[in-house]
Amino acid sequence: MVAPKTQLPVDRLGRSLASLRVSVTDRCNIRCRYCMPEDHYVWLPRQSILAFEEINQIVGAFASLGVTRVRITGGEPLLRHDLPDLVSLLSQNVQIEDIAVTTNGIMLARFAELLKSAGLTRVTVSLDTLKPDRFVDFTRSGRHQDVLEGIDSLARLGFRRSKLNTVVIRGLNDDELIDLLEFGRESGVEVRFIEYMDVGGATRWSSDDVVPRSEMLARISDHYGTLTPIRAGEAANRAPADRFELPDGTSFGIIASTTEPFCGSCDRSRITADGMWYRCLYAESGIDLKSPLREGASDTELAELIRRSWSERSDRGAAERLAVHNRGVLYGLDGLRTDPHKEMHTRGG
Ligand code: GTP
Ligand code: 5AD
Ligand code: SF4
Repeated sequence: MVAPKTQLPVDRLGRSLASLRVSVTDRCNIRCRYCMPEDHYVWLPRQSILAFEEINQIVGAFASLGVTRVRITGGEPLLRHDLPDLVSLLSQNVQIEDIAVTTNGIMLARFAELLKSAGLTRVTVSLDTLKPDRFVDFTRSGRHQDVLEGIDSLARLGFRRSKLNTVVIRGLNDDELIDLLEFGRESGVEVRFIEYMDVGGATRWSSDDVVPRSEMLARISDHYGTLTPIRAGEAANRAPADRFELPDGTSFGIIASTTEPFCGSCDRSRITADGMWYRCLYAESGIDLKSPLREGASDTELAELIRRSWSERSDRGAAERLAVHNRGVLYGLDGLRTDPHKEMHTRGG
């Protein structure tokens, strides 16, 4: 049975609440230099982490408002080894049409089949380099081969529209754009090059390290020839990537959140593993959904809280950062340690 479409809540800038990102853990098994470069972190207290039934109830409240797309994130979501159970729970909700996961890929080969059977529809893998020694520099992990095997398992298991996320950092991996595109073509995954963002947790960020979209496009077209922009359909329009086609038809994307933010059409919000709801990646503070949930709020009450809060939303975090003169890191270490919710690995990338 197909559920009736609901009128999506709209914020003050006319943006619908259409996509939900759910972080299931703030922990990670690697240490990407653009996300977790420090030696020590303050973690969310264990008792505050939502059980899958609680996540399912919160997602259900969003779905009752018309949200159809859910992306599971972390930290590294597969650190919760029973993640397929969450996917099964979510996939029983007829209103949810798309359940995706963003993973670093290290444990993907082990779990991909279970996730597929549980109802996962799409996978995005983060991979910044094809060189094993460089992978160690990027992530402090030697498990590059495991990530490649994870990516390899996707097409074999019948996952479609898989994506690769590559954060491009000047002098570190910007010489690999072409190799990564070739790798994407061979592996059947769409590569998206992401501008290095000054999100919370990116304590080594500097504007000098950002390779802007325009420069990436110039380098790619120098190699391949004319690039054709892919006209976005209505749904794709709200996705963060601008997509292009190489002359042979291979598609790729660029996420220019730093130099050309997509705040004007941003339909996304995120829940942390402890049930805080952030209506913007850059928001200073979030809305506590865990407390009402644990105090017994009904699905309707939760949905009402979400609808009301969304209608008050006016965030344009990345666009406001763009206007900052002499832009530096967003938060210093003290700020991050006082409130780990400010970290990108807590907010779910
Ligand atoms: P779908 O729309 O579900 O296909 O996924 P996606 O493309 O958003 O997923 P993914 O998790 O791969 O996000 C890609 C990248 O876009 C992230 O790693 C961030 O760099 C950036 N991004 C995601 N969400 C936001 C957001 O709310 N604001 C900004 N400025 N950037 C975001
Ligand atoms: N800049 C851009 N993207 C980032 N991510 C994490 N930190 C940053 C950053 N500073 C994104 C990566 C990864 C996802 C989980 O989060 O793209 O794929
Ligand atoms: Fe872990 Fe993802 Fe952050 Fe990398 S980007 S440190 S994989 S949470």
